[in-house]
Amino acid sequence: MPPRSAPLIQNVFARSAQSLAGDWRVIVDPYDNGYLDYRGQPLATDGYFADRKPASKSDRIEYDFDRSETLRVPGDWNSQRPELFLYEGTVWYRTRFDAGAAGGRRRFLRFGAANYEARVWLNGTFAGSHRGGFTPFDVEVTSLLRQGSNSLVVMVNDMRRREGVPTLNTDWWNYGGLTRDVLLVDVPETFVRDWALHLAPEDPRRITGWVQLDGPTRRQPVVVRLPGLGLAVRVQTDAEGFARVELEAPSIERWTPERPRLHDVELQCDTDRVVDRIGFRTIEVRGGEILLNGAPVFLRGISVHEQAPRREGRACGPADARTLLGWAQELGANFVRLSHYPHDEHTVRLADELGLLVWEEIPVYWTIAWDDPDTLENARTQLTELVTRDRNRASVVLWSVGNETPPTEARLRFMRELVRTARALDPTRLVSAALERQEVHPLLQRVDDPLGADLDVLGCNEYLGWYDGLPDRPDGVRWETCHAKPLVMTELGADALHGLHGNALTRWTEEYQATFYEHQLRMLEAIPFLRGMSPWILADFRSPRRALPGVQDGWNRKGLVSDRGEKKLAFRILQDHYRALAARWR
Ligand code: GCU
Repeated sequence: MPPRSAPLIQNVFARSAQSLAGDWRVIVDPYDNGYLDYRGQPLATDGYFADRKPASKSDRIEYDFDRSETLRVPGDWNSQRPELFLYEGTVWYRTRFDAGAAGGRRRFLRFGAANYEARVWLNGTFAGSHRGGFTPFDVEVTSLLRQGSNSLVVMVNDMRRREGVPTLNTDWWNYGGLTRDVLLVDVPETFVRDWALHLAPEDPRRITGWVQLDGPTRRQPVVVRLPGLGLAVRVQTDAEGFARVELEAPSIERWTPERPRLHDVELQCDTDRVVDRIGFRTIEVRGGEILLNGAPVFLRGISVHEQAPRREGRACGPADARTLLGWAQELGANFVRLSHYPHDEHTVRLADELGLLVWEEIPVYWTIAWDDPDTLENARTQLTELVTRDRNRASVVLWSVGNETPPTEARLRFMRELVRTARALDPTRLVSAALERQEVHPLLQRVDDPLGADLDVLGCNEYLGWYDGLPDRPDGVRWETCHAKPLVMTELGADALHGLHGNALTRWTEEYQATFYEHQLRMLEAIPFLRGMSPWILADFRSPRRALPGVQDGWNRKGLVSDRGEKKLAFRILQDHYRALAARWR
Protein backbone atom coordinates (compact mmCIF):
# COMPACT_ATOMS: atom_id res chain seq x y z
CA MET A 1 0.00 0.00 0.00
CA PRO A 2 1.68 3.26 -1.09
CA PRO A 3 2.19 5.77 1.73
CA ARG A 4 -0.56 8.35 2.02
CA SER A 5 -0.02 11.70 3.77
CA ALA A 6 -0.83 15.37 3.12
CA PRO A 7 1.72 17.79 1.65
CA LEU A 8 3.89 19.04 4.51
CA ILE A 9 2.89 22.15 6.41
CA GLN A 10 5.77 24.64 6.71
CA ASN A 11 6.76 25.71 10.25
CA VAL A 12 4.12 23.89 12.30
CA PHE A 13 5.82 25.32 15.37
CA ALA A 14 4.25 28.69 14.50
CA ARG A 15 0.78 27.16 14.36
CA SER A 16 -1.76 26.66 17.16
CA ALA A 17 -1.20 23.07 18.00
CA GLN A 18 -2.02 20.59 20.75
CA SER A 19 0.90 18.38 21.77
CA LEU A 20 -0.01 14.70 22.09
CA ALA A 21 3.17 13.95 24.02
CA GLY A 22 2.80 11.66 27.01
CA ASP A 23 2.36 8.02 27.94
CA TRP A 24 0.55 6.17 25.17
CA ARG A 25 -0.90 2.71 25.63
CA VAL A 26 0.93 0.16 23.54
CA ILE A 27 0.65 -3.38 22.24
CA VAL A 28 3.84 -5.09 21.10
CA ASP A 29 2.77 -7.17 18.07
CA PRO A 30 5.62 -9.20 16.53
CA TYR A 31 3.17 -11.16 14.28
CA ASP A 32 1.13 -8.12 13.09
CA ASN A 33 -1.82 -9.88 14.68
CA GLY A 34 -3.61 -6.58 15.08
CA TYR A 35 -3.50 -5.93 11.35
CA LEU A 36 -3.45 -9.30 9.52
CA ASP A 37 -5.68 -12.36 9.74
CA TYR A 38 -4.27 -15.86 10.05
CA ARG A 39 -3.91 -15.99 6.25
CA GLY A 40 -1.84 -12.85 6.33
CA GLN A 41 -4.62 -10.75 4.81
CA PRO A 42 -5.27 -7.25 6.17
CA LEU A 43 -8.18 -7.19 8.62
CA ALA A 44 -11.02 -5.02 7.39
CA THR A 45 -12.66 -3.89 10.59
CA ASP A 46 -11.50 -5.93 13.56
CA GLY A 47 -7.90 -4.98 13.93
CA TYR A 48 -6.33 -3.23 16.90
CA PHE A 49 -6.91 0.01 14.97
CA ALA A 50 -10.58 -0.23 15.94
CA ASP A 51 -9.64 0.25 19.61
CA ARG A 52 -12.74 -1.73 20.59
CA LYS A 53 -14.09 -2.71 23.98
CA PRO A 54 -16.35 -5.74 24.58
CA ALA A 55 -19.97 -4.65 23.99
CA SER A 56 -21.23 -7.40 26.28
CA LYS A 57 -19.90 -10.12 28.52
CA SER A 58 -20.04 -12.50 25.58
CA ASP A 59 -18.18 -10.24 23.20
CA ARG A 60 -14.71 -11.69 22.26
CA ILE A 61 -12.14 -8.89 22.02
CA GLU A 62 -8.54 -10.17 22.43
CA TYR A 63 -6.83 -6.89 23.21
CA ASP A 64 -7.50 -3.92 25.44
CA PHE A 65 -5.42 -0.79 25.14
CA ASP A 66 -6.73 0.55 28.46
CA ARG A 67 -5.20 -2.37 30.33
CA SER A 68 -2.02 -2.41 28.24
CA GLU A 69 1.41 -1.04 29.17
CA THR A 70 2.56 2.43 28.18
CA LEU A 71 5.46 3.98 26.35
CA ARG A 72 6.44 7.63 26.40
CA VAL A 73 5.93 9.65 23.20
CA PRO A 74 8.08 11.13 21.80
CA GLY A 75 10.67 8.46 22.37
CA ASP A 76 12.09 5.26 20.91
CA TRP A 77 10.79 2.02 22.44
CA ASN A 78 14.22 0.33 22.70
CA SER A 79 15.49 2.46 25.58
CA GLN A 80 12.24 2.41 27.53
CA ARG A 81 11.92 -1.30 28.24
CA PRO A 82 14.79 -3.84 28.48
CA GLU A 83 12.76 -6.46 26.63
CA LEU A 84 12.35 -4.02 23.71
CA PHE A 85 16.03 -3.11 23.49
CA LEU A 86 16.64 -5.39 20.54
CA TYR A 87 13.03 -5.52 19.35
CA GLU A 88 12.33 -4.98 15.67
CA GLY A 89 8.75 -5.35 14.52
CA THR A 90 5.36 -3.75 15.13
CA VAL A 91 4.24 -1.77 18.14
CA TRP A 92 0.72 -0.33 18.31
CA TYR A 93 0.39 3.06 20.00
CA ARG A 94 -2.94 4.43 21.22
CA THR A 95 -3.76 7.72 22.84
CA ARG A 96 -7.06 9.39 23.55
CA PHE A 97 -7.41 13.15 23.39
CA ASP A 98 -10.17 15.73 23.49
CA ALA A 99 -10.59 18.03 20.54
CA GLY A 100 -12.70 21.16 20.67
CA ALA A 101 -15.16 22.12 17.98
CA ALA A 102 -13.54 22.58 14.57
CA GLY A 103 -15.56 25.73 13.78
CA GLY A 104 -14.83 25.41 10.04
CA ARG A 105 -11.07 25.09 10.58
CA ARG A 106 -8.88 22.17 9.47
CA ARG A 107 -6.93 19.77 11.65
CA PHE A 108 -3.78 17.85 10.82
CA LEU A 109 -1.78 15.35 12.82
CA ARG A 110 1.92 16.19 12.52
CA PHE A 111 4.38 13.35 13.23
CA GLY A 112 7.94 14.67 13.55
CA ALA A 113 9.15 11.13 12.75
CA ALA A 114 8.03 7.52 13.13
CA ASN A 115 10.61 4.79 12.52
CA TYR A 116 10.17 3.20 9.99
CA GLU A 117 6.69 2.62 8.63
CA ALA A 118 3.55 4.06 10.24
CA ARG A 119 -0.18 3.61 9.68
CA VAL A 120 -2.58 6.01 11.37
CA TRP A 121 -6.22 5.53 12.37
CA LEU A 122 -8.48 8.04 14.02
CA ASN A 123 -11.62 6.77 15.70
CA GLY A 124 -11.18 3.47 13.89
CA THR A 125 -10.93 5.02 10.40
CA PHE A 126 -7.72 4.81 8.38
CA ALA A 127 -6.30 8.33 8.07
CA GLY A 128 -2.86 7.96 6.48
CA SER A 129 0.50 6.24 6.37
CA HIS A 130 4.17 7.00 5.91
CA ARG A 131 7.52 5.31 5.44
CA GLY A 132 10.95 6.58 6.30
CA GLY A 133 12.02 6.90 9.91
CA PHE A 134 13.48 10.40 9.97
CA THR A 135 11.21 12.83 8.13
CA PRO A 136 7.93 14.44 9.19
CA PHE A 137 4.49 13.72 7.81
CA ASP A 138 1.10 15.36 8.13
CA VAL A 139 -2.24 13.54 8.10
CA GLU A 140 -5.43 15.55 7.64
CA VAL A 141 -8.10 14.49 10.17
CA THR A 142 -10.64 17.32 9.86
CA SER A 143 -13.47 15.00 8.81
CA LEU A 144 -12.55 12.22 11.26
CA LEU A 145 -12.30 14.25 14.45
CA ARG A 146 -15.06 14.15 17.02
CA GLN A 147 -15.85 16.78 19.57
CA GLY A 148 -14.83 15.27 22.94
CA SER A 149 -12.76 12.11 23.19
CA ASN A 150 -10.90 10.77 20.14
CA SER A 151 -9.02 7.50 19.74
CA LEU A 152 -5.75 7.82 17.83
CA VAL A 153 -4.04 4.53 16.96
CA VAL A 154 -0.68 4.35 15.20
CA MET A 155 0.89 1.11 14.01
CA VAL A 156 4.67 1.53 13.84
CA ASN A 157 6.93 -1.11 12.32
CA ASP A 158 10.71 -0.77 12.25
CA MET A 159 11.65 -3.98 10.49
CA ARG A 160 14.70 -3.46 8.31
CA ARG A 161 14.13 -4.26 4.64
CA ARG A 162 16.48 -5.15 1.80
CA GLU A 163 14.67 -2.64 -0.42
CA GLY A 164 14.36 -0.05 2.36
CA VAL A 165 16.05 3.35 2.87
CA PRO A 166 18.13 2.68 4.87
CA THR A 167 18.60 -0.98 3.97
CA LEU A 168 19.45 -3.98 6.20
CA ASN A 169 22.92 -2.99 7.40
CA THR A 170 23.73 0.21 9.30
CA ASP A 171 26.31 1.19 11.87
CA TRP A 172 23.65 2.78 14.08
CA TRP A 173 20.92 1.42 16.35
CA ASN A 174 17.54 0.87 14.76
CA TYR A 175 15.55 2.84 17.36
CA GLY A 176 11.87 2.22 16.68
CA GLY A 177 8.74 4.13 17.53
CA LEU A 178 7.20 7.59 17.58
CA THR A 179 10.56 9.20 18.07
CA ARG A 180 9.60 12.89 17.70
CA ASP A 181 6.75 15.31 18.47
CA VAL A 182 3.16 14.37 17.67
CA LEU A 183 0.96 17.45 17.32
CA LEU A 184 -2.66 18.17 16.45
CA VAL A 185 -2.31 21.26 14.28
CA ASP A 186 -5.17 23.66 13.75
CA VAL A 187 -5.29 25.88 10.64
CA PRO A 188 -7.93 27.91 8.75
CA GLU A 189 -9.85 26.29 5.91
CA THR A 190 -7.54 28.01 3.45
CA PHE A 191 -4.11 28.51 4.90
CA VAL A 192 -0.53 29.40 3.95
CA ARG A 193 0.83 25.85 3.72
CA ASP A 194 4.31 26.42 2.36
CA TRP A 195 6.78 29.11 1.35
CA ALA A 196 10.39 29.61 0.37
CA LEU A 197 12.25 32.86 0.96
CA HIS A 198 15.93 33.39 0.27
CA LEU A 199 18.37 35.85 -1.29
CA ALA A 200 18.37 35.66 -5.09
CA PRO A 201 21.56 33.73 -5.99
CA GLU A 202 22.04 35.92 -9.08
CA ASP A 203 21.41 39.19 -7.17
CA PRO A 204 21.59 38.92 -3.37
CA ARG A 205 20.22 42.46 -2.89
CA ARG A 206 16.82 40.89 -3.55
CA ILE A 207 14.74 38.35 -1.63
CA THR A 208 12.93 35.89 -3.88
CA GLY A 209 10.79 32.86 -3.32
CA TRP A 210 7.19 31.78 -3.40
CA VAL A 211 4.11 31.10 -1.33
CA GLN A 212 1.59 28.25 -1.57
CA LEU A 213 -1.94 28.38 -0.19
CA ASP A 214 -3.94 25.24 0.59
CA GLY A 215 -7.76 25.20 0.71
CA PRO A 216 -10.89 26.17 -1.25
CA THR A 217 -10.05 29.92 -1.59
CA ARG A 218 -6.79 29.61 -3.44
CA ARG A 219 -6.86 32.88 -5.32
CA GLN A 220 -5.99 35.48 -2.69
CA PRO A 221 -3.74 38.49 -2.15
CA VAL A 222 -0.81 37.60 0.16
CA VAL A 223 1.35 40.16 1.93
CA VAL A 224 4.89 39.06 2.79
CA ARG A 225 6.38 41.36 5.43
CA LEU A 226 9.70 41.73 7.24
CA PRO A 227 8.40 44.02 9.98
CA GLY A 228 11.85 44.52 11.51
CA LEU A 229 13.10 46.02 8.26
CA GLY A 230 9.93 47.78 7.17
CA LEU A 231 9.89 45.66 4.03
CA ALA A 232 6.70 44.27 2.51
CA VAL A 233 5.29 43.09 -0.82
CA ARG A 234 1.80 42.16 -1.92
CA VAL A 235 1.36 39.28 -4.36
CA GLN A 236 -1.69 37.58 -5.85
CA THR A 237 -1.90 33.78 -5.85
CA ASP A 238 -3.16 31.94 -8.94
CA ALA A 239 -5.90 29.32 -9.26
CA GLU A 240 -3.54 26.76 -7.68
CA GLY A 241 -2.87 29.04 -4.71
CA PHE A 242 0.68 29.76 -5.85
CA ALA A 243 2.52 33.07 -6.19
CA ARG A 244 6.14 34.09 -6.73
CA VAL A 245 7.58 36.61 -4.28
CA GLU A 246 10.21 39.28 -5.00
CA LEU A 247 11.25 42.15 -2.79
CA GLU A 248 14.20 44.51 -2.73
CA ALA A 249 16.37 44.12 0.37
CA PRO A 250 19.58 45.97 -0.46
CA SER A 251 20.84 46.37 3.09
CA ILE A 252 19.56 43.28 4.83
CA GLU A 253 21.89 42.00 7.54
CA ARG A 254 23.16 38.60 6.44
CA TRP A 255 23.23 35.41 8.50
CA THR A 256 26.75 34.26 9.35
CA PRO A 257 28.07 31.75 11.93
CA GLU A 258 29.63 34.65 13.82
CA ARG A 259 26.42 36.76 13.68
CA PRO A 260 23.47 34.38 13.07
CA ARG A 261 20.96 37.13 12.44
CA LEU A 262 17.38 35.88 11.99
CA HIS A 263 14.62 38.15 10.66
CA ASP A 264 10.95 37.99 11.60
CA VAL A 265 8.85 37.19 8.56
CA GLU A 266 5.08 37.40 8.29
CA LEU A 267 2.89 35.92 5.55
CA GLN A 268 -0.70 37.15 5.58
CA CYS A 269 -3.66 36.47 3.32
CA ASP A 270 -7.36 37.17 3.90
CA THR A 271 -7.91 33.85 5.69
CA ASP A 272 -4.61 33.24 7.44
CA ARG A 273 -1.47 34.75 8.97
CA VAL A 274 1.73 32.85 9.79
CA VAL A 275 5.20 33.85 10.92
CA ASP A 276 8.73 32.47 10.77
CA ARG A 277 12.26 33.53 11.70
CA ILE A 278 14.56 33.31 8.73
CA GLY A 279 18.23 34.10 8.18
CA PHE A 280 19.34 35.34 4.77
CA ARG A 281 22.72 34.36 3.33
CA THR A 282 24.14 33.08 0.06
CA ILE A 283 26.17 29.88 -0.37
CA GLU A 284 27.96 28.84 -3.55
CA VAL A 285 31.05 27.20 -4.95
CA ARG A 286 33.39 29.19 -7.20
CA GLY A 287 36.88 28.23 -8.40
CA GLY A 288 37.41 25.55 -5.76
CA GLU A 289 36.19 27.78 -2.91
CA ILE A 290 33.03 27.46 -0.85
CA LEU A 291 31.70 31.02 -0.61
CA LEU A 292 29.40 32.10 2.21
CA ASN A 293 27.96 35.55 1.46
CA GLY A 294 30.58 35.80 -1.27
CA ALA A 295 33.56 35.13 1.05
CA PRO A 296 35.61 31.90 1.22
CA VAL A 297 34.76 29.78 4.25
CA PHE A 298 36.37 26.72 5.84
CA LEU A 299 33.91 24.26 7.38
CA ARG A 300 35.32 23.41 10.82
CA GLY A 301 32.96 20.58 11.55
CA ILE A 302 32.03 17.44 13.40
CA SER A 303 29.71 14.60 12.47
CA VAL A 304 26.79 13.98 14.81
CA HIS A 305 24.45 11.02 15.31
CA GLU A 306 21.04 11.59 16.89
CA GLN A 307 22.10 9.68 19.96
CA ALA A 308 20.68 10.98 23.23
CA PRO A 309 23.43 12.67 25.26
CA ARG A 310 24.27 10.99 28.57
CA ARG A 311 21.44 8.43 28.29
CA GLU A 312 20.23 5.56 26.19
CA GLY A 313 18.05 6.18 23.18
CA ARG A 314 17.42 8.45 20.24
CA ALA A 315 17.88 12.15 20.95
CA CYS A 316 14.86 14.35 20.42
CA GLY A 317 13.65 17.81 21.29
CA PRO A 318 15.30 21.17 22.01
CA ALA A 319 17.18 20.14 25.17
CA ASP A 320 19.09 17.29 23.50
CA ALA A 321 19.80 19.50 20.50
CA ARG A 322 21.23 22.19 22.78
CA THR A 323 23.54 19.69 24.50
CA LEU A 324 24.85 18.18 21.26
CA LEU A 325 25.26 21.45 19.37
CA GLY A 326 26.71 23.01 22.53
CA TRP A 327 29.50 20.41 22.50
CA ALA A 328 30.11 21.10 18.82
CA GLN A 329 30.46 24.82 19.52
CA GLU A 330 32.76 24.08 22.47
CA LEU A 331 34.95 22.23 20.00
CA GLY A 332 35.20 25.45 17.97
CA ALA A 333 33.06 24.08 15.13
CA ASN A 334 31.16 26.34 12.74
CA PHE A 335 29.69 23.31 10.92
CA VAL A 336 27.91 20.04 11.78
CA ARG A 337 27.25 17.03 9.58
CA LEU A 338 23.92 15.62 10.78
CA SER A 339 24.43 11.98 9.85
CA HIS A 340 23.20 9.77 8.20
CA TYR A 341 19.56 10.78 8.21
CA PRO A 342 17.48 13.94 8.80
CA HIS A 343 17.69 14.96 12.46
CA ASP A 344 14.93 16.61 14.50
CA GLU A 345 13.67 19.97 13.20
CA HIS A 346 14.49 21.42 16.63
CA THR A 347 18.17 20.72 15.94
CA VAL A 348 18.23 22.57 12.64
CA ARG A 349 16.28 25.52 14.02
CA LEU A 350 18.74 25.70 16.90
CA ALA A 351 21.65 25.64 14.42
CA ASP A 352 20.04 28.71 12.82
CA GLU A 353 20.10 30.48 16.18
CA LEU A 354 23.54 29.34 17.28
CA GLY A 355 25.27 30.01 13.97
CA LEU A 356 26.26 26.50 12.90
CA LEU A 357 26.39 25.59 9.22
CA VAL A 358 24.64 22.27 8.53
CA TRP A 359 25.10 19.29 6.22
CA GLU A 360 21.86 17.27 6.01
CA GLU A 361 21.69 13.74 4.60
CA ILE A 362 19.15 11.10 3.66
CA PRO A 363 19.85 7.49 4.72
CA VAL A 364 20.99 6.23 1.29
CA TYR A 365 23.69 4.38 3.17
CA TRP A 366 26.08 1.69 1.97
CA THR A 367 24.37 -0.81 -0.40
CA ILE A 368 20.81 0.13 -1.31
CA ALA A 369 18.61 -1.76 -3.81
CA TRP A 370 19.75 0.48 -6.70
CA ASP A 371 17.65 -1.22 -9.36
CA ASP A 372 14.37 -1.12 -7.44
CA PRO A 373 12.22 1.78 -8.71
CA ASP A 374 10.24 1.80 -5.48
CA THR A 375 13.45 2.23 -3.48
CA LEU A 376 14.31 5.23 -5.64
CA GLU A 377 10.81 6.63 -5.08
CA ASN A 378 11.23 6.12 -1.35
CA ALA A 379 14.61 7.91 -1.30
CA ARG A 380 13.25 10.74 -3.43
CA THR A 381 10.28 11.17 -1.09
CA GLN A 382 12.54 11.33 1.96
CA LEU A 383 14.70 13.93 0.21
CA THR A 384 11.61 15.94 -0.74
CA GLU A 385 10.27 15.87 2.82
CA LEU A 386 13.65 16.95 4.19
CA VAL A 387 14.02 19.85 1.75
CA THR A 388 10.41 20.92 2.31
CA ARG A 389 10.87 20.94 6.09
CA ASP A 390 14.18 22.83 6.15
CA ARG A 391 14.24 24.94 2.99
CA ASN A 392 14.04 28.19 4.97
CA ARG A 393 16.86 27.35 7.39
CA ALA A 394 19.88 29.58 6.75
CA SER A 395 22.10 27.15 8.66
CA VAL A 396 21.49 24.37 6.13
CA VAL A 397 23.97 24.80 3.28
CA LEU A 398 24.41 21.25 1.95
CA TRP A 399 22.05 18.46 0.93
CA SER A 400 23.79 15.08 0.92
CA VAL A 401 22.25 12.36 -1.19
CA GLY A 402 24.10 9.48 0.49
CA ASN A 403 27.02 7.88 2.30
CA GLU A 404 29.69 5.38 1.15
CA THR A 405 27.75 4.00 -1.80
CA PRO A 406 29.56 1.62 -4.20
CA PRO A 407 30.74 2.98 -7.61
CA THR A 408 28.46 0.83 -9.81
CA GLU A 409 26.46 1.95 -12.86
CA ALA A 410 23.12 1.24 -11.15
CA ARG A 411 24.14 3.28 -8.13
CA LEU A 412 25.35 6.14 -10.32
CA ARG A 413 21.99 6.30 -12.09
CA PHE A 414 20.17 6.19 -8.76
CA MET A 415 22.33 8.89 -7.14
CA ARG A 416 22.17 11.14 -10.18
CA GLU A 417 18.38 11.01 -9.94
CA LEU A 418 18.63 12.20 -6.34
CA VAL A 419 21.03 14.99 -7.27
CA ARG A 420 18.56 16.12 -9.95
CA THR A 421 15.71 15.99 -7.42
CA ALA A 422 17.64 18.06 -4.87
CA ARG A 423 18.51 20.72 -7.46
CA ALA A 424 14.93 20.88 -8.75
CA LEU A 425 13.57 21.25 -5.21
CA ASP A 426 16.13 23.82 -4.12
CA PRO A 427 18.50 25.60 -6.53
CA THR A 428 19.89 27.78 -3.70
CA ARG A 429 21.98 25.17 -1.83
CA LEU A 430 24.96 22.92 -2.53
CA VAL A 431 24.61 19.21 -3.22
CA SER A 432 27.09 16.64 -1.99
CA ALA A 433 27.58 13.04 -0.90
CA ALA A 434 30.09 11.20 1.33
CA LEU A 435 32.25 9.31 -1.18
CA GLU A 436 35.06 6.79 -0.73
CA ARG A 437 38.69 7.27 -1.69
CA GLN A 438 40.68 5.46 -4.36
CA GLU A 439 44.19 4.41 -3.34
CA VAL A 440 46.66 4.80 -6.23
CA HIS A 441 49.44 3.77 -3.92
CA PRO A 442 49.84 4.01 -0.11
CA LEU A 443 51.02 7.64 -0.27
CA LEU A 444 48.56 8.82 -2.92
CA GLN A 445 44.80 8.90 -2.35
CA ARG A 446 42.31 10.17 -4.95
CA VAL A 447 38.69 11.28 -4.85
CA ASP A 448 37.74 10.31 -8.39
CA ASP A 449 34.30 8.76 -7.84
CA PRO A 450 32.34 9.55 -11.08
CA LEU A 451 29.45 10.87 -8.97
CA GLY A 452 31.77 13.76 -8.03
CA ALA A 453 31.08 15.26 -11.45
CA ASP A 454 27.44 15.85 -10.45
CA LEU A 455 28.16 17.33 -7.02
CA ASP A 456 29.05 20.87 -5.94
CA VAL A 457 31.21 19.75 -3.06
CA LEU A 458 33.04 16.44 -2.65
CA GLY A 459 32.64 14.60 0.64
CA CYS A 460 35.07 11.79 1.45
CA ASN A 461 35.35 9.32 4.32
CA GLU A 462 38.79 7.98 5.24
CA TYR A 463 40.17 6.08 8.21
CA LEU A 464 43.93 6.08 7.54
CA GLY A 465 45.40 5.04 10.89
CA TRP A 466 42.35 3.14 12.13
CA TYR A 467 40.91 0.71 9.51
CA ASP A 468 44.10 1.11 7.51
CA GLY A 469 47.34 1.06 9.51
CA LEU A 470 48.45 2.74 12.71
CA PRO A 471 48.29 6.39 13.83
CA ASP A 472 51.26 7.48 11.70
CA ARG A 473 49.72 6.00 8.51
CA PRO A 474 48.61 9.46 7.21
CA ASP A 475 52.19 10.79 7.29
CA GLY A 476 53.27 11.88 3.84
CA VAL A 477 49.98 10.93 2.20
CA ARG A 478 48.97 13.20 -0.67
CA TRP A 479 45.42 13.69 -1.98
CA GLU A 480 44.25 14.48 -5.51
CA THR A 481 40.99 14.62 -7.42
CA CYS A 482 39.94 14.77 -11.08
CA HIS A 483 36.92 16.94 -10.15
CA ALA A 484 38.54 20.33 -9.32
CA LYS A 485 35.95 20.90 -6.58
CA PRO A 486 36.25 21.71 -2.89
CA LEU A 487 36.62 18.71 -0.61
CA VAL A 488 35.07 18.22 2.81
CA MET A 489 36.63 15.26 4.63
CA THR A 490 33.33 14.00 5.98
CA GLU A 491 34.71 11.19 8.16
CA LEU A 492 37.93 10.32 9.92
CA GLY A 493 38.14 8.82 13.37
CA ALA A 494 39.35 6.14 15.78
CA ASP A 495 37.67 4.29 18.64
CA ALA A 496 38.67 5.05 22.22
CA LEU A 497 37.00 4.07 25.48
CA HIS A 498 36.92 7.06 27.80
CA GLY A 499 39.24 6.43 30.72
CA LEU A 500 41.23 3.70 28.97
CA HIS A 501 44.83 4.79 28.83
CA GLY A 502 48.04 3.41 27.35
CA ASN A 503 50.68 4.34 24.78
CA ALA A 504 49.88 5.76 21.37
CA LEU A 505 49.93 2.34 19.70
CA THR A 506 47.51 0.70 22.09
CA ARG A 507 44.16 0.47 20.35
CA TRP A 508 41.03 1.61 22.10
CA THR A 509 42.98 4.02 24.35
CA GLU A 510 42.50 7.78 24.46
CA GLU A 511 46.18 8.15 23.58
CA TYR A 512 45.77 6.15 20.36
CA GLN A 513 42.81 8.30 19.35
CA ALA A 514 44.62 11.55 20.19
CA THR A 515 47.72 10.52 18.25
CA PHE A 516 45.54 9.46 15.35
CA TYR A 517 44.12 13.01 15.25
CA GLU A 518 47.54 14.63 15.42
CA HIS A 519 48.75 12.73 12.35
CA GLN A 520 45.45 13.13 10.51
CA LEU A 521 45.28 16.90 11.02
CA ARG A 522 48.79 17.30 9.63
CA MET A 523 47.81 15.32 6.52
CA LEU A 524 44.59 17.32 6.09
CA GLU A 525 46.43 20.62 6.39
CA ALA A 526 48.43 19.65 3.32
CA ILE A 527 45.45 18.95 1.04
CA PRO A 528 45.25 21.97 -1.27
CA PHE A 529 41.55 21.58 -2.15
CA LEU A 530 40.33 20.81 1.38
CA ARG A 531 37.64 23.28 2.44
CA GLY A 532 36.16 21.51 5.40
CA MET A 533 36.01 18.48 7.62
CA SER A 534 33.55 16.70 9.94
CA PRO A 535 35.46 14.06 11.89
CA TRP A 536 33.66 10.93 12.99
CA ILE A 537 32.21 11.67 15.50
CA LEU A 538 31.04 14.08 18.25
CA ALA A 539 29.88 11.44 20.76
CA ASP A 540 29.90 7.67 21.17
CA PHE A 541 26.76 6.11 19.74
CA ARG A 542 24.91 2.80 19.90
CA SER A 543 25.61 0.28 17.14
CA PRO A 544 24.68 -3.38 16.89
CA ARG A 545 27.91 -3.91 14.92
CA ARG A 546 30.24 -3.14 17.86
CA ALA A 547 30.70 -6.17 20.06
CA LEU A 548 34.09 -5.93 21.81
CA PRO A 549 33.39 -6.69 25.49
CA GLY A 550 34.54 -4.16 28.07
CA VAL A 551 35.33 -1.62 25.34
CA GLN A 552 32.51 -1.32 22.80
CA ASP A 553 29.64 -3.29 24.37
CA GLY A 554 27.31 -2.19 21.59
CA TRP A 555 28.79 1.32 21.24
CA ASN A 556 30.82 2.83 18.45
CA ARG A 557 33.52 4.55 20.51
CA LYS A 558 34.80 7.00 17.92
CA GLY A 559 33.22 9.86 19.81
CA LEU A 560 35.30 12.74 21.15
CA VAL A 561 32.78 12.71 23.97
CA SER A 562 31.79 9.50 25.76
CA ASP A 563 28.24 8.17 26.17
CA ARG A 564 28.32 9.76 29.64
CA GLY A 565 29.32 13.18 28.30
CA GLU A 566 33.01 12.97 29.23
CA LYS A 567 35.53 14.59 26.91
CA LYS A 568 38.36 12.41 25.59
CA LEU A 569 41.95 13.65 25.02
CA ALA A 570 41.34 14.05 21.28
CA PHE A 571 38.60 16.61 21.97
CA ARG A 572 41.27 19.08 23.00
CA ILE A 573 43.45 18.24 19.99
CA LEU A 574 40.70 19.11 17.55
CA GLN A 575 39.64 22.14 19.63
CA ASP A 576 43.15 23.60 19.42
CA HIS A 577 43.26 22.90 15.70
CA TYR A 578 39.94 24.66 15.11
CA ARG A 579 41.03 27.64 17.16
CA ALA A 580 44.04 28.04 14.87
CA LEU A 581 41.96 27.48 11.73
CA ALA A 582 39.38 30.05 12.82
CA ALA A 583 42.12 32.63 13.26
CA ARG A 584 43.58 31.83 9.84
CA TRP A 585 40.25 32.04 7.99
CA ARG A 586 38.98 35.19 9.71
C1 GCU B 1 31.70 4.50 8.13
C2 GCU B 1 30.28 4.97 8.17
C3 GCU B 1 29.81 5.30 9.55
C4 GCU B 1 30.46 4.36 10.55
C5 GCU B 1 31.95 4.62 10.52
C6 GCU B 1 32.70 3.71 11.47
O1 GCU B 1 32.45 5.16 7.35
O2 GCU B 1 29.94 6.00 7.30
O3 GCU B 1 28.44 5.20 9.57
O4 GCU B 1 29.94 4.52 11.80
O5 GCU B 1 32.46 4.39 9.25
O6 GCU B 1 33.17 2.69 11.00
O7 GCU B 1 32.83 4.03 12.64
